[in-house]
Parts: sequence; structure tokens; C-alpha cells
Amino acid sequence: MLSTADPAAKVALSRAAAAGWRAGDLAEIGDAVPPDRPARPERPPLLPPREMPKRRAGGEREKRVALLHALAHIELNAIDLAWDLVARFASEAPPLTFFDDWVNVAGEEALHHSLLAARLAELGAGYGDLPAHDGLWEAAAATAHDLLARLAVVPLVLEARGLDVTPDMIRRLDLGGDDESAAILRVIYRDEIGHVAAGRRWFEWACARQGRPPIETYHHLVRRHFRGVLKPPFNREARAEAGFAAAFYEPLADRPETPA
Ligand SMILES: [Fe+2]
Ligand SMILES: [Fe+2]
Repeated sequence: MLSTADPAAKVALSRAAAAGWRAGDLAEIGDAVPPDRPARPERPPLLPPREMPKRRAGGEREKRVALLHALAHIELNAIDLAWDLVARFASEAPPLTFFDDWVNVAGEEALHHSLLAARLAELGAGYGDLPAHDGLWEAAAATAHDLLARLAVVPLVLEARGLDVTPDMIRRLDLGGDDESAAILRVIYRDEIGHVAAGRRWFEWACARQGRPPIETYHHLVRRHFRGVLKPPFNREARAEAGFAAAFYEPLADRPETPA
């Protein structure tokens, strides 16, 4: 999966593997060594985040395509991040339910990417048409040495941030009359609450195994491995649904939250 560059092939392999795992056909856990970087298609070109072109004030359709393209890119990275977690940290011998959770996440990320790619095609565009940034894989590389750091930064900072910003995107798409795109984002939003919940569950599991206090450990790891601060407003409701308490993220906010 990680060494497959073509997005459609990666999606198909990921969904088949997730279905196979669920059916019990893949109960063998190997000890594959994941590549430092997953394979990527030639397009889109990957730029450092600060070199990304500013979104020009295009028409409705251009803006929509830019948004869906950015999300499709995040979801493609998310597929690799889930498989990387499965492959990289299998050596820590977590219980089987760890694999159940992350294989399921990989399958859902593959679905998300394919829904967005299909929607882009309906709008006369395609994944690869615009440049994309490489920030997500930088986060993966920075935490490749440590399961706790990986879980703190990827599901519990980046995916949790997705919960904060998605409702507003859905609202805008609804307002613009793009029901199809809004419906896809609703699917993603539901699933992502589950991904944050899995991150929180396994973070607490790994903390317990090492006898470390979860909240303090989270603060320490995010300050150390995540460049940047957490931006309020937080979607407390969705985060709470994922079992992710405010005591984790609130003290890391760049400014106190102003009541809405
Ligand atoms: Fe996703
Ligand atoms: Fe996710």
C-alpha cells in the first residue's frame, strides 16, 4: 500500500485489505519495514507549506475545486499514515484490536479520498491538478520513532483539528448549494470522530503500559513534536464524543478561548 504511487490503486488495495482483515483473511501480522516516505504520483507537485500559492479569488467552482483538492490530498496522506502506523508499530506487540482499529481507519481514509476524487471529476477537475503541500508527511517523519508521539500529533492534533474546521466547510457548501460535496464532508466528519477516538484510546493504552500520565504526556509530546500552537475555537462537542477531554488540548491553545 505504502509503496503504491497511483491514488486509485492505493485506494483499491487499502479497501480490499481492510475488508480482508475484517473477514479474518489476513490474521497474520508480518514484520514489514515501512518506507520512510510512501510512494506518490508525479502529480500533484508537493511544495513546502509556506510555498503554497495563495488561493486566488477565483469563481465559485474554482474555490470549490481548491477545497476538495486540498481535502483529497489530506485523505491520501491519511491512508498512508494509517498503514504506516500499522506497519511501524507492530513491533510493539499491541493487542489485535489495535490492528482492527487502524486497518479500519485506513479503509475509511481510502473511501474518503475516493469520494473526493470522484466529486472532483464531476466538477471537471481531478486529484493532481493543483499543487499540494507536504506538511502531513513531515509530521509523520518527525514522530516515526515513538508511538506515543505519533498518536499525539497525528490523530490527536491533526485529525482533531479536522473536527474543528469541517462543520464550517459543510455550512459553506450548503450555502453555496453544493449538496453533493456537503454530503461527502458529512461522511468524513462522522468517520473522523472515530479516528480521534481510536487515537485517544491507543494513546491512553500506550501511556498506561509505560506508567505515564496521559494528559501531561500529551502536553509534553505536542510541545516537543508539533510545530505551531493549537488554534481555538475547538469543536468541544465532537472532541468529547471521541472521548477527548478539554484538559488535553485546552492548555495548549495559543490564546484563551473567547466565548462564542
Ligand atoms: Fe479521512
Ligand atoms: Fe482520519
